[in-house]
Amino acid sequence: MTYPPAASDPQSAVPLLEVTELSTSFRTGRGLLKAVDRVSFRLGRGRTIGVVGESGSGKTVLARTVMGLLAGSNVEKTGSVRFEGQELLGAPNSELRSLWGARMAMIFQDPMTALNPVMRIGRQITESLRLHLDIDRSEARATAVSLLAQVGIPSPEERYGSFPGELSGGMRQRVMIAIALACSPRLLLADEPTTGLDVTVQAQILDLLGSLQYERNMAMVLVTHDLGVVATRTDDIVVMYAGRIVEMAPTSRLFSSMAMPYTEALLASTPRLSNPSHTRLAAIEGRPPDLTALPPGCPFAPRCRYAQDLCRRAAPPLVTAERPDHLYACWYPLGARTGPAPVSHSVSS
Ligand SMILES: Nc1ncnc2c1ncn2[C@@H]1O[C@H](COP(=O)(O)OP(=O)(O)OP(=O)(O)O)[C@@H](O)[C@H]1O
Ligand SMILES: [Mg+2]
Repeated sequence: MTYPPAASDPQSAVPLLEVTELSTSFRTGRGLLKAVDRVSFRLGRGRTIGVVGESGSGKTVLARTVMGLLAGSNVEKTGSVRFEGQELLGAPNSELRSLWGARMAMIFQDPMTALNPVMRIGRQITESLRLHLDIDRSEARATAVSLLAQVGIPSPEERYGSFPGELSGGMRQRVMIAIALACSPRLLLADEPTTGLDVTVQAQILDLLGSLQYERNMAMVLVTHDLGVVATRTDDIVVMYAGRIVEMAPTSRLFSSMAMPYTEALLASTPRLSNPSHTRLAAIEGRPPDLTALPPGCPFAPRCRYAQDLCRRAAPPLVTAERPDHLYACWYPLGARTGPAPVSHSVSS
């Protein structure tokens, strides 16, 4: 093979997923609620990007918009979502349907509502298989049993006939993973795949996702409110606040030189294994802003312990630090604070 192999393959120049200036707003009784605000990122084949932020920061709306699952007369979407070069924003449902499950799949935040409670789990897997693959009933059954085994369900033959309500939370989450991976998608959007599970089961599920991903060279968008979860399991991290990306960097860079006070506050509020009760050490003070009436300036300023006048007056743009792959939206980034004077930025309109 020649090196670099990528150069000779025109397909590899196209990122698996390219999200550009994506915004999603809801028309509500209180006005337009901008849940996702001009978000851009890229994801390469087999790579993992973590999307972190507090509750209400827009993580689920972002993931659902990328999947093409948000529609309706009260939803406004602008920007672009390109998957393997194909524009998904505004694509007809028939086109999206042929991608779902087969080339891109999603694990939903709440497995109990995402699974059909009155359908046996085996059938829920075979339905997806038969929809996308040209296989007969017995082949689909054998594949489903094998998938249940791969996701670590004991006695998969017996469990094939169980209903979701008969399984523990961790087992239901494994079934969700089996359904999502049934047709070997290129991209998995995993929305809080371990929320509500105890820490040991959380780690098992995340390890399982990681190994399945590696075996299949599948890319993943891992959505979580917990920076600890993405610290060891992602290549890059996107930090969201009030629907915007406020910091984005390769994972190791983010932890070694985080720039945003919000990221620092999120990290301080991450539950630690060393804390016996696994409870949050310190919630971020104050409340996230009302997305129908954002304050002028930086949306985090009212809660930021470093905020200065400028932060309350003008919204900081997303800019690069010393490295082009590290972006942040802060007038007074953390690293610069240790110097004699804050970095001065000019206010852009
Ligand atoms: N269908 C909808 N109509 C109106 N507002 C919505 C709708 N869906 C989400 N929102 C709002 O969009 C914002 C972002 O919600 P989202 O569910 O994406 O947050 P999140 O980051 O996933 O939070 P969590 O960590 O709690 O899951 C919230 O203010 C939410 O109330
Ligand atoms: Mg969510």
